[in-house]
Amino acid sequence: MTTADLTGRTAIVTGGATLLGRGVVQVLADHGASVVIADIDEENGRRVAQEASSSGATVTFRRVDVTDDAALATLVAETVAENGGLDIVVNLAAVYIDDGFATTRADWLTALNVNVVSMVALVQAAHPHLKASRHASVVNFTSISSSVAQTGRWVYPAGKAAIAQLTRSMAMDLAPDGIRVNSVSPGWTWSAIMDDLSGGDRVKTDRVAAPFHLTGRVGDPSEVGNVVAFLASDAASVVTGADWAADGGYSAMGPEQATPAIPLLAEQDPS
Ligand SMILES: NC(=O)c1ccc[n+]([C@@H]2O[C@H](COP(=O)([O-])OP(=O)(O)OC[C@H]3O[C@@H](n4cnc5c(N)ncnc54)[C@H](O)[C@@H]3O)[C@@H](O)[C@H]2O)c1
Repeated sequence: MTTADLTGRTAIVTGGATLLGRGVVQVLADHGASVVIADIDEENGRRVAQEASSSGATVTFRRVDVTDDAALATLVAETVAENGGLDIVVNLAAVYIDDGFATTRADWLTALNVNVVSMVALVQAAHPHLKASRHASVVNFTSISSSVAQTGRWVYPAGKAAIAQLTRSMAMDLAPDGIRVNSVSPGWTWSAIMDDLSGGDRVKTDRVAAPFHLTGRVGDPSEVGNVVAFLASDAASVVTGADWAADGGYSAMGPEQATPAIPLLAEQDPS
């Protein structure tokens, strides 16, 4: 038995088709869970399911738009029919729609619908089955963006801040049903957006991230997956309503960063 033993558990991971999602799916499967990936990206979702299954785990893909309540109901019903229950929900799917100050009402509503409201809708659909599980756990993906201002970004951070609060509300009201609810806040993580923007250059990505991550690099998807697996497991049985930083120390660092600022006071003024 591993620390985060998930043997016999069934998990739904929304957004599991992407690079970061794949890391989470793989770690959950490696710890013994059967995983259902729910994503709109059919090509990558099927590929991730196939790759993660190659080690003998049960990982399947379902094409699901998380903003579609009927599709969520079908996802939950079919997951339970095929696996005999549902123990873990990982709300990871998100969109980065954000034009800062200029964002239209339509884009605000679209982004918040995917990033926040759909987390609630899936938990509502899964609730009877989570309640019936003796190991029920929900893990919501928020971000370091939930608690700092970032230039040109209004929508994504607001949604992520809402998720941190939503997690506390869910944890409070679902505790009597034996359902633990936590969130995970990744820092910069090697993900599809980093891969795209850097042209696949991990070394450059780590160099850019180094000044504001104590670890001096971006995180790996599997490192975030390890935190999710812990929160989903009985090893975290005393943890609910909490936000877990998986951010390489980003949130521990202040504006002075990791360089001594006080000695600057003693330096000679060049003028
Ligand atoms: N990338 C990072 O460095 C980072 C940092 C902090 C937090 N996060 C969080 O981690 C999670 C994954 O981020 P990412 O960068 O890998 O994002 P991504 O855009 O690469 O992946 C998001 C996934 O969600 C899916 N998705 C989008 N809309 C959907 C819908 N309506 N229905 C179903 N699936 C849908 C996409 O197809 C995709 O597979 C997000 O919640 C994000 O906020 C990421």
